[in-house]
Amino acid sequence: MGRIDEFTDLGCLVTGASAGIGREIARLLADEGARLVVTARRQDRLVELCEDLSRRGAKEAHLVVADLADPDGVERVIEAADAALGHVDVLVNNAGFAVPGSFVRSSEERTAAMIAVNVTAATVLLRRLLPGMVKRDRGGVLNVASVAAFQAAPYQAAYAGTKSYLLNLSESVYQEVKHTMVAVTALCPGVTDTEFFDAAGYKNLGPFLKRRMSAVKVARLGLRGLRRGKPTVVTGFSNRALLFVERLAPRTLIGEVSRRLMGGRKL
Ligand SMILES: NC(=O)c1ccc[n+]([C@@H]2O[C@H](COP(=O)([O-])OP(=O)(O)OC[C@H]3O[C@@H](n4cnc5c(N)ncnc54)[C@H](OP(=O)(O)O)[C@@H]3O)[C@@H](O)[C@H]2O)c1
Repeated sequence: MGRIDEFTDLGCLVTGASAGIGREIARLLADEGARLVVTARRQDRLVELCEDLSRRGAKEAHLVVADLADPDGVERVIEAADAALGHVDVLVNNAGFAVPGSFVRSSEERTAAMIAVNVTAATVLLRRLLPGMVKRDRGGVLNVASVAAFQAAPYQAAYAGTKSYLLNLSESVYQEVKHTMVAVTALCPGVTDTEFFDAAGYKNLGPFLKRRMSAVKVARLGLRGLRRGKPTVVTGFSNRALLFVERLAPRTLIGEVSRRLMGGRKL
């Protein structure tokens, strides 16, 4: 089974590193002396982050500005990461966003962009970078899914669909490569304190946001899972307990409860 003893000197590519969970993952990797390529669309944030990463102990810190909704952007990230690092040992597929609200009224364009980032870009990066890791028999992939991957999630339907896809892809590929030293981990956070809800335009989430976990804690749990070669990491005891209970109930009932919770909030 794949494990990662230490991230020191490993070439790591982190997507969605300009904010939230991705930024904290990059910082923790820098603390361990990793060689990093970070990517997102906001250049100013990445410049600031790279200075921080170097201060913290990153052996190298490079940035690539790219829109992962654009296939050319994905290609540019792969080329830049290979050029800067020689090869990528660790891929963190973290970039993502949601399109909240009624599916019937949702923007088709925004939904397509979300699928391009959350599904297509993550898959292309994995498909392109995993073979090298398997050949070298070392490294790992952290795919940032969500607890929304496990059940119907009315009023964030297509988002939950993208995360179910990523979870399924990740757990399936884990099985395919578990005889190697390459780790493949799906990180499934619950509500986390990042820019995610503002970026997507969620409204009236009220009590949901009160119990959010810090981004650095989520990042730490994800990297710990990857280090140990865990196929899946669900953050927080209450999220794990809820998912356990949900397995015992009919899926339609879970969907109905979720609809009442979310629908009542006029997203
Ligand atoms: N926060 C939560 O409660 C929560 C819960 C479960 C799962 N997640 C997942 O965790 C991951 C990280 O989200 P977060 O909570 O840290 O949110 P965040 O603070 O909004 O960060 C999202 C990151 O993704 C990048 N990104 C978004 N669209 C992009 C695009 N088209 N091209 C390239 N990069 C793009 C953003 O960078 P730019 O805007 O600079 O491009 C940013 O760095 C996501 O996959 C999200 O689905 C979050």
